[in-house]
Amino acid sequence: MSLQGPKTKQLFEQASAVIPYGVNSNFRYWGDEDTLVIERGEGTYIWDVDGKRYIDYRLAFGPIILGHAYPAVNQKVQEAMQNGTLFAWTTPLEIEVAERIKRLCNVDKIRLTNTGSEATMHALRIARAYTGREKFISFEGHYHGMVDYFLFSTASASRGALGSRRSPIAVRASSGIPLDIRKYMISLPFNDFELLEAAVKARWFDIAAIVFEPMMGNCAGIMPKPGYLEKIRELCDMYGIAMVMDEVKTGFRIANGGAQEYFNIQADIVTYAKSLGNGFPIAAIAGKDEFMMTVQPGAVAHGGTYSGNVVGTAAAAATLEIIEKEPVIETINQRGRALMQGIDDILTEADIPHVVTGVPSMFGILLGTEETPQDFRDYTAGDGDLYEEIGMELARRGVLPDSDGREPWFLCYSLSEEDVAETLNIFNDAVKAAKE
Ligand SMILES: Cc1ncc(COP(=O)(O)O)c(C=O)c1O
Repeated sequence: MSLQGPKTKQLFEQASAVIPYGVNSNFRYWGDEDTLVIERGEGTYIWDVDGKRYIDYRLAFGPIILGHAYPAVNQKVQEAMQNGTLFAWTTPLEIEVAERIKRLCNVDKIRLTNTGSEATMHALRIARAYTGREKFISFEGHYHGMVDYFLFSTASASRGALGSRRSPIAVRASSGIPLDIRKYMISLPFNDFELLEAAVKARWFDIAAIVFEPMMGNCAGIMPKPGYLEKIRELCDMYGIAMVMDEVKTGFRIANGGAQEYFNIQADIVTYAKSLGNGFPIAAIAGKDEFMMTVQPGAVAHGGTYSGNVVGTAAAAATLEIIEKEPVIETINQRGRALMQGIDDILTEADIPHVVTGVPSMFGILLGTEETPQDFRDYTAGDGDLYEEIGMELARRGVLPDSDGREPWFLCYSLSEEDVAETLNIFNDAVKAAKE
């Protein structure tokens, strides 16, 4: 049964006539029968053009930390834009946002940009400029946006193409990427101390950065093993490598100060986007003085016509103010813990082997195994088909995580205890329906 009501179907056909596959990002395409057309969102809900309501756990792949159309954020944006949106000069709002990020995340300096991809692209350039080296280490199943350099061995890679653990192959995630740039990325399975240490020891003099997600926000929320992030820190210090932590998904979500606070670790360069603006386009590159001050007019490039634009920056100012003043993450964590526990109980009751991974604000579910996954290779041992089947049953009933198990469930501040109870009832029904 298609997810599309009559109006959705008609508009999706119309969209497909002018937009490739009817979507403005490949990740949004659920096939011709099930891709939705959304009319509006409010709080934790979205409504499609047929008026069907969903409890939204995709939350636009993470940015909506407070809730859709959050009044205080919208109001700040509306007020700010009355005075113009873009000047190519510094504005007081940019200073406010940089000061808030500095306070929350314990970083020295911040440059704003618009998207996570731009932030990671600039972070890599800064790391290369700082170290004078060109290669970088990254991990299978980690995602750093649409930058060619990073689009290797993401969670869309086929398991077989990755080669052996001992000598992994960096696999292109897309046609159209020059194969030659594969030489810059050393791709490794995450959470493997020995392989990481061996790779660094063998080629440290070529390695500018270790670029990573602190938890696998694009692969079921797989967590770092205890001590693994510290190992990255230690190796970076020992060999003069930049530690680049991509907090595009974890920033202002898993703790007020993101993964740096949650895991009590300090990177050299950190990237933020998503929850920074509650759905408005804004991102940041931040970090220690010596790394950030590498950016220098005429020497090391960072730019962007829309960097620090008033709309995104006002949204960030309002979002961060609320995160600083109200128990946003605490509330989300309470609801998330109840949801993770309830899902665990339902799957146990249904006799489906499973593991719930991640943290309450951003968690994943792996079916068909009881082994806690440590890396992307482990993830592929799970039953993705059953997950998708349950995901589609959930969607039909008005609960909307992504039906792809690699994408975590995201929670927002507007989610109530009643929403959690409704979700668990529906989850129970969806599991039963998928088992039939
Ligand atoms: C960890 C991480 N880094 C970078 C990006 C790219 O961000 P954007 O889509 O804003 O370019 C994403 C997007 O999902 C992400 O999850």
